[in-house]
Amino acid sequence: MDYKNAAWRKSMELKIDYNNMMKEFVGEEQGFSVKDFTDNKKLIASAFNTVCENRGTGMMGWTELPYNQKEIVADIIATAKDIKKKFDNFVVLGIGGSALGPIAVFQALCHLRHNELPKSKRKAPKLYVEDNVDPERMVALLDVLDLDKTVFNVVTKSGATSETMSQYLIIMDILKKRYGDKAKEHMIATTSAHKGNLIKIAQAEGLKTFYIPDGVGGRFSELCPVGLLPAAVVGIDIKAMLAGAAHMDKLCKNKDYKKNPALISAILEYLAMQNGKNISVMMPYADSLKYIADWYCQLWGESLGKAVDNDGNEVFVGQTPVKALGVTDQHSQVQLYREGPFDKVITLIAVENYRKTVDISNGCEDIPDVNFLCGHTMNELITAERKATEYALTTAHRLNYTITLPEVNAFTIGELLYLFEMETAYTGAMLNIDTFNQPGVEGGKNATYALFGRKGYEKTKEEMDNAPAKKAEYFC
Ligand code: PA5
Repeated sequence: MDYKNAAWRKSMELKIDYNNMMKEFVGEEQGFSVKDFTDNKKLIASAFNTVCENRGTGMMGWTELPYNQKEIVADIIATAKDIKKKFDNFVVLGIGGSALGPIAVFQALCHLRHNELPKSKRKAPKLYVEDNVDPERMVALLDVLDLDKTVFNVVTKSGATSETMSQYLIIMDILKKRYGDKAKEHMIATTSAHKGNLIKIAQAEGLKTFYIPDGVGGRFSELCPVGLLPAAVVGIDIKAMLAGAAHMDKLCKNKDYKKNPALISAILEYLAMQNGKNISVMMPYADSLKYIADWYCQLWGESLGKAVDNDGNEVFVGQTPVKALGVTDQHSQVQLYREGPFDKVITLIAVENYRKTVDISNGCEDIPDVNFLCGHTMNELITAERKATEYALTTAHRLNYTITLPEVNAFTIGELLYLFEMETAYTGAMLNIDTFNQPGVEGGKNATYALFGRKGYEKTKEEMDNAPAKKAEYFC
């Protein structure tokens, strides 16, 4: 990956084709015109300025991650090298923003069957990301791990999340019983340097610790140690990922929306929301990008789903993000996308060059209706199917646009993650909401603390106890 070369970087730039969001292609009733952009000129300029002014401050510390982590990256690479030497399994204990990014990047940039490969071909530890507290899953994990060859990374920014801390307690207990004082050699912590309980525990236990910067919220944390350490452990070029993010950052600083991929996509989604399109479907045409759609769903849903705006008005805004996979979901969801309510924007993600080519074999010479496939490749087929979906949606007047990656590599994944983060920031600014808080998620966390009798949550417990009792007549 020649990311230090400007021509190479240019050749790896993502492209956004939004023709099918415009009236000329999707029809007068559903589509937009350039006039819609000019009518919203002031709003667009104000959103652009808000994002630019807030860069690197408050909860927008993530805009600096492509630039300010030289020493941290060196530490991560050295730690990853050491882990590779000593261990065969790397297990992330975390949830939400502490899990979805590592899963997405692993799927995008490692062999699609990484964990199943023999060690000689894998050349890096297996990666497991445990983002649930389903007891069956915990037991299943322990059934397959050789603890002697396993290191855990407990990741929580708040250092308080019940799911993650309960996993930590379970695993640390097992490690201590087995390794005594050496248990700490099997546990890393990634958390806030100043807040929460995990930092205190990590210091007391003497754990190797990576820090999540204050201005980087969970869902914006993939490009800090939360995502970089697991990525480096499985052999991903994290410097290339950050270079891709930096490249996208430059594009997203352009005042001219026609040259700013995050701003144009934010405008389109904003206009769509104003027209009642309250569902955003993310549909990559690549298994490698399947979990990027998952990661996007958290980013988009948790950032933009808000009850009040910055002036305290009740607004109840946000689009429900939906993940889909091309071509798999052509045989389930696309029926709804094409013929159901006009309430969606569908984002297709295309890949120009897949990393592998597979020929469709010759055969069935006597059956033309099967034989027409022969002589082609799976690459041609998946591309044709994406174009077919685009055509089907557009002719049914369904808003859709396509983001194309020249290929899937660490640089383009860095670009894509950063593009979505910036798009989210611009859209939130247009909606005049706090993009970076999550009172809804915290409400759920607090209710769990209350149910478990955590000190300080007595009032919530009382409220929950006094909630109306369920009626027998409504059970069936
Ligand atoms: O984006 C967010 O802030 C959340 O989804 C968090 O990532 C999630 O709740 C986990 O929080 P923490 O990292 O504090 O354990």
